[in-house]
Amino acid sequence: MSAVDLRGKVAFVTGAAQGLGYAIVRAYAQAGMHIAMMDVRAEALTRVADELRALGADVLPIPVDLSDAAATQAAVERAIEFYGTPRVLVHNAALLVERSMFEIDLSAWRKEINIILQAAFILSKAVWQGMTDARDGSIVYLSSGSGIKGFVKEVAYCPGKHGQEGLMKVLAMEGAPYNIAVNSITPGAPINTPMSASNYNDELKQRWIDPAELTPAFLHLAGVTAQDVTGERLDAWALSQQMGGNP
Ligand SMILES: NC(=O)c1ccc[n+]([C@@H]2O[C@H](COP(=O)([O-])OP(=O)(O)OC[C@H]3O[C@@H](n4cnc5c(N)ncnc54)[C@H](O)[C@@H]3O)[C@@H](O)[C@H]2O)c1
Repeated sequence: MSAVDLRGKVAFVTGAAQGLGYAIVRAYAQAGMHIAMMDVRAEALTRVADELRALGADVLPIPVDLSDAAATQAAVERAIEFYGTPRVLVHNAALLVERSMFEIDLSAWRKEINIILQAAFILSKAVWQGMTDARDGSIVYLSSGSGIKGFVKEVAYCPGKHGQEGLMKVLAMEGAPYNIAVNSITPGAPINTPMSASNYNDELKQRWIDPAELTPAFLHLAGVTAQDVTGERLDAWALSQQMGGNP
């Protein structure tokens, strides 16, 4: 899946308690990575940690509300203190509450934007010095069709995802001299996750796939540097197929 041996390498993954984030940490654990896992759903995160430890994995669950800047900073500092600078940072957590301009208020808008974009900045900033010093690392943001197009009732999610795309492009340029890969990735296929369960129509639910099908892409991105791929908006389904799919 990855040209690089990931055993003993460190990953920080947000939104690890369910859905795509859970599939990613499970794949990373099976590859022998050490993983700091962040999520606001503390009990579910503990269950994931217990499950992965039972498989022999070395994981650190960190319950955190990523809409809170100070808590996000403290969480990532704890992860760095425990494991050091990660090989890969995957910012996968997001919140999508469909609300029109009439329905949303500033505090609800900020919450979604902060989980998506503010946390992307804080997490990336926290690992930046270590990754640039090491001249080795990969940062991945979960994107969406909402990162390039508008959708009705996505007054916060959509600008959050657009903002993340912009941050990715700038950090890819600034990270290139240090060989840091910074990319965004969209699922590229309908996925069966709790977010999808509340947002997909019946037609999409009929053809959604297990998010584990997308993990070859994330295993690949855990090993890349800027020389391999950077500044790109990738498609996890297509990349996973290119990597040979999930056996
Ligand atoms: N599901 C899709 O069809 C789809 C499509 C395009 C992009 N995406 C993106 O893929 C990623 C994963 O999506 P998913 O479908 O697995 O979503 P999900 O809602 O099932 O999982 C998201 C995770 O983020 C966590 N989270 C939410 N708010 C948080 C907060 N304040 N602090 C910390 N953690 C928080 C949740 O607890 C959950 O574990 C997201 O970035 C999403 O935007 C999903």
